[in-house]
Amino acid sequence: HSKYPAFKPIAMSNRRWPDKTLDTAPTWCSVDLRDGNQALIEPMTGRQKSRLWDLLVKLGFKEIEVGFPSASGHDFDFVRELIDNNRIPEDVTIQVLTQARPDLIEKTFEALKGVRRAIVHVYNSTSTVQREQVFGLDREGIIDIAVKGAKLVQDCAARYPETEWVFEYSPESFTGTELDFAVEVCNAVTAVWQPTPERPAIINLPATVEMSTPNVYADQIEWFCDRVERRESLLISLHTHNDRGCAVAAAELGVLAGADRVEGTLMGNGERTGNMDIVTMAMNLYSQGVDPMLDLSNMDEIIQTCKECTQLPLHPRHPYAGELVFTAFSGSHQDAIKKCLARRDETSPWEVAYLPIDPADIGRSYEEVIRINSQSGKGGIAYVLERTHGLVLPRWLQIDFSRAVQAYAEASEAEVEPDAIYDLFEKTYLHD
Ligand code: KIV
Ligand code: ZN
Repeated sequence: HSKYPAFKPIAMSNRRWPDKTLDTAPTWCSVDLRDGNQALIEPMTGRQKSRLWDLLVKLGFKEIEVGFPSASGHDFDFVRELIDNNRIPEDVTIQVLTQARPDLIEKTFEALKGVRRAIVHVYNSTSTVQREQVFGLDREGIIDIAVKGAKLVQDCAARYPETEWVFEYSPESFTGTELDFAVEVCNAVTAVWQPTPERPAIINLPATVEMSTPNVYADQIEWFCDRVERRESLLISLHTHNDRGCAVAAAELGVLAGADRVEGTLMGNGERTGNMDIVTMAMNLYSQGVDPMLDLSNMDEIIQTCKECTQLPLHPRHPYAGELVFTAFSGSHQDAIKKCLARRDETSPWEVAYLPIDPADIGRSYEEVIRINSQSGKGGIAYVLERTHGLVLPRWLQIDFSRAVQAYAEASEAEVEPDAIYDLFEKTYLHD
């Protein structure tokens, strides 16, 4: 009964992506400083933006959307700060967003004066709901906005020939737009820009609101890629939001369906339920042996910086990054992990039950892997005692002592720290 299945299902025979695998990282573009920032209760201060910028550069992002300078004085100032103080490394390109409106486009170029290279990201909304309810325009009216915007972007860029310009266009609300119309608008824009394989334009297809299962989004991307003109001169970019909780899956399938580039944020900050979480998608690649082309080896620094800049806490079960995701409390999981770790040969690939990656790869220690509470068993308790106090218990003692620890944990209704386990051991066996 949904309003959206306006999209015709695509015949199975037309699908090429189920046979493909993700074997290289897409080009990442961080939109933390724009989409992420605009969704915060308290937008970032200049100092916080600066701190997050430094982190993004350090992690290895080569494309970073730094704001919407025509809409916000703070964003304008931040763009100037980066350019005037030479804070943009040679291999990093800043991106700025603007609506396809003449005054905003002019101001955007003012903000970018003197930049070495920049992506100007221009958008207008194309969905049925936005056309009918927000703009009161028909298809031609929407194409007209996009084309006039594209022309002005091109004219403004010509005024600053010393800058290497890259143009990006988003049919905002793509996921609520009829596919044939999305293709038509994008063709009209690229007919103005005339990109070439050497100087490609970016066409970004946002799931501004996530409206379907990820496979349907991927079908839309494939359908679009197959029909859009000048495909060889375009970089197809994805920009998924997480309204149905599938932003990462949608981006992954979208890349399999033919996209080249992915926009997202660290830990998925962004409008409403957030943007696509680049950390999760990058670590998904990493866990399958694909170089994510981002350095996520100091996860705690990433978490801390994000927390300080966005003032948002991280869920303890956030994929890969949460403080509990490499922790096992239950006896059977502990037992399996303990056995795998004991047999582990450092030279072979990581293969440990319940742990998709080696926690050390993101800067975590093994201490947090096995923790003890009333759910834990003899194996886990023995593992902790050996690791923290060098005490190796014979099997009969492990069984006996685990009863004491379990009784203690049930009574205290809390986690039992390694020192408390050792004290209990001393009290139980080494004193009267
Ligand atoms: O979600 C969205 O559609 C956007 C666009 C402006 C790209 O953020
Ligand atoms: Zn967005």
